Amino acid sequence: MFDWRGYLDGAPEYLARHYWWAYLDPAGVWFFDHHPVINLILFGQYRNILDEVMRRYAVAESACTLQLACAYGSLTPALARAENTRELHLLDVAAIQLRAAQRKIPPSSKPVLLARINAEALAYADNSFDATIIFFLLHELPAEARQQALRETLRVLKPGGRLLIAEYGANRGRHLLHRFKPARRLLEKLEPFLNDFWHSDLDAQLAACARNNGKALRHNGETALFGGFYRVVEYRA
Ligand SMILES: C[S@@+](CC[C@H](N)C(=O)[O-])C[C@H]1O[C@@H](n2cnc3c(N)ncnc32)[C@H](O)[C@@H]1O
Repeated sequence: MFDWRGYLDGAPEYLARHYWWAYLDPAGVWFFDHHPVINLILFGQYRNILDEVMRRYAVAESACTLQLACAYGSLTPALARAENTRELHLLDVAAIQLRAAQRKIPPSSKPVLLARINAEALAYADNSFDATIIFFLLHELPAEARQQALRETLRVLKPGGRLLIAEYGANRGRHLLHRFKPARRLLEKLEPFLNDFWHSDLDAQLAACARNNGKALRHNGETALFGGFYRVVEYRA
């Protein structure tokens, strides 16, 4: 009989229980890491979201960049190739994800350092990074884990550093996909922490995490995509 515990192998319980099929199973990792698949999951918005992250990322020199968890598609190769990256750190709690990411690093890229780390307890010193990118991770974390990952993110971000978050937009019940019950139900079934994320105040949460680390965080602009169903948000510590 199927038992998700077989996928634990150092992964947090929520990841093995709810997302084994997407991130831990070899067939899932192979299947999802294809452009048409991730583009379909993001309602055709993958390129727009990635371009907006890279547009905001490109405006300043980043000696040291952190990508907080692997992502399917071409974010890692894009960051690794970017003119303004000097060194890219990529972490993930799942070894299979790091192996898949490693295969996508272009030969002529900047140095990329991969590490198996849980985002809730970052094994980096305070103020290590000039830029941190979080691509669709937050809505996949239970509230407490999300809070802890954000606290850690703000700890390792340098004063003056930039934080870029690509995520679902807040759910104010206005978007068609928020109002169309079958679509909402399906998303909530596949993404059990999405509903909580949809209704959480990301700005307030981040401000509290920054204060917790003796830092102030400035909202530096937000781009709404697909009628606000997705967003790319930029902060400055
Ligand atoms: C960043 S999200 C990206 C989701 C999105 N669908 C995509 O691929 O574009 C998925 C990744 O987060 C990782 N992950 C989940 N929880 C984590 C945690 N607590 N610490 C580090 N990585 C985590 C998973 O192993 C997976 O590789």
